[in-house]
Amino acid sequence: MSSGKILITGVAGFIGSNLADRLLKEGYEVTGLDNLAYGVKEQIPAGVKFIKGDIRSKDIYPVFKGMDAVYHLAAKNCISDCQIDPVETSDINVTGTVNVFEAAKQAGVKKVIYAESSAIYEGSSKYPTPEEDEKPESFYSASKFAEKIFAEAYVRFHKMNFTALRYFCVYGPRQDYRRSIPPVMSAFIIKLLRGEKPTIYGTGEKRRDFVYVDDVNDFHLLCLKDRRTDGGTFNVGSGENYSVQDIFNAVESILKTGINPEHKADLPGESQLTLADITKAKSLGWKPKTSLKEGLSKSVEYIREHVMAQAKA
Ligand SMILES: NC(=O)c1ccc[n+]([C@@H]2O[C@H](COP(=O)([O-])OP(=O)(O)OC[C@H]3O[C@@H](n4cnc5c(N)ncnc54)[C@H](O)[C@@H]3O)[C@@H](O)[C@H]2O)c1
Repeated sequence: MSSGKILITGVAGFIGSNLADRLLKEGYEVTGLDNLAYGVKEQIPAGVKFIKGDIRSKDIYPVFKGMDAVYHLAAKNCISDCQIDPVETSDINVTGTVNVFEAAKQAGVKKVIYAESSAIYEGSSKYPTPEEDEKPESFYSASKFAEKIFAEAYVRFHKMNFTALRYFCVYGPRQDYRRSIPPVMSAFIIKLLRGEKPTIYGTGEKRRDFVYVDDVNDFHLLCLKDRRTDGGTFNVGSGENYSVQDIFNAVESILKTGINPEHKADLPGESQLTLADITKAKSLGWKPKTSLKEGLSKSVEYIREHVMAQAKA
């Protein structure tokens, strides 16, 4: 599919807004749905037909009519917030996702590409982790695993066509920095640019597989164009990992502020190490191209221009 009508849920969020940009550039007609609970209207690219709506509501069903494909990205996705409120986590991520699947089924959408998460490997000790080693532990990962079980049932009973994406730590412009505990990249960059001490939760030894959002978008496009992704589940990571301390050092080596981080108690529910086995995604010809230095430099540039400039205005 190299043209057509695409719906993105969670279009005002980090990954959704970047994906919308890319699809518009490629010539697709993009409709975006979001209730703006965590996303920001201003970051939805011009050219997207935006509909404010909640994925848990049946009011969204008409939006799915005539869509060639749906990217379902809307979710409650901060692990520590999900630990505090498992009921809302399930409501948004499980009930909301089933509602999206049902809307897509009723509209006869040919393909649904949806976000699971590397959090599904929380209990695994196999590194790099292949798609088969599913061991969800936290409430967030339990909700993402439930999405998978529902997708399987929709395939079994309604022959729907899904591709499940298990993103590792995606980073880049528009990464959500407004959360109570923002992801490390944006948290460190913003604090250092403000001349404040960034916080490292735990010792800083936790290692994460970070993947740049443009590389993720390359895989998103492949999902539309390559039928070998139909029915598949794919790890979307870089296949390399860095410690939180490494990330701090890399950001500091770009900004050169001389500020040291402060340490606070570790966050509950987070795994010590993530590392993607990306053999399956690479077998389709995809590979991540952006180095950590390049990705971080682009993230710094974005935060300087958009976040810091806005704060001054
Ligand atoms: N960013 C990552 O590193 C990462 C890693 C693994 C998985 N994921 C998954 O990828 C997807 C996108 O993540 P993101 O980082 O862009 O998150 P994000 O929080 O930036 O975006 C999610 C969007 O969903 C919207 N939303 C939430 N609840 C909604 C509801 N009930 N109805 C309609 N819209 C709603 C929010 O307002 C927000 O704009 C999520 O499903 C997330 O769980 C992300």
